[in-house]
Amino acid sequence: MDVKQLLDRLNVALGWELRAVNMYAHYAANIRGINRLQLSPLFTTESNESLTHADIIRRAIVKLGGIPVTERNTHEIVHSVDFNEMLQFSLETETKAAEVYGEIMKLIGGGDQEMYDAVEQIYLAELRSIESLRLLMS
Ligand SMILES: [Fe+2]
Ligand SMILES: [Fe+2]
Repeated sequence: MDVKQLLDRLNVALGWELRAVNMYAHYAANIRGINRLQLSPLFTTESNESLTHADIIRRAIVKLGGIPVTERNTHEIVHSVDFNEMLQFSLETETKAAEVYGEIMKLIGGGDQEMYDAVEQIYLAELRSIESLRLLMS
């Protein structure tokens, strides 16, 4: 297990989660019209889930002797009041997250089993989000 590379990827994942917390909270507050009824709670749930994921990853970084990032990923959070755009940017975010978690699982490999299981749970949650976003947009 290449710890340095793993720490680097975990910090990338943490940056994306910190960004997702903000992005989803922003969309939950800004969603307008009839879709607000369903999408505001959905975005709030995603924001909270991202906060939970960030906490798990942050603790994994500390466990490995690394320093967790404190800043979000700098990829722009685009303001919108259009729900289709919001869903599109959500899908983009979930796809990036799933990608990074897939890499992290490969890097952990046969190493820390507890960490692997925790990351796998997060990875599966991102995949579920991707699937439900795809259905919402179809
Ligand atoms: Fe996440
Ligand atoms: Fe997510």
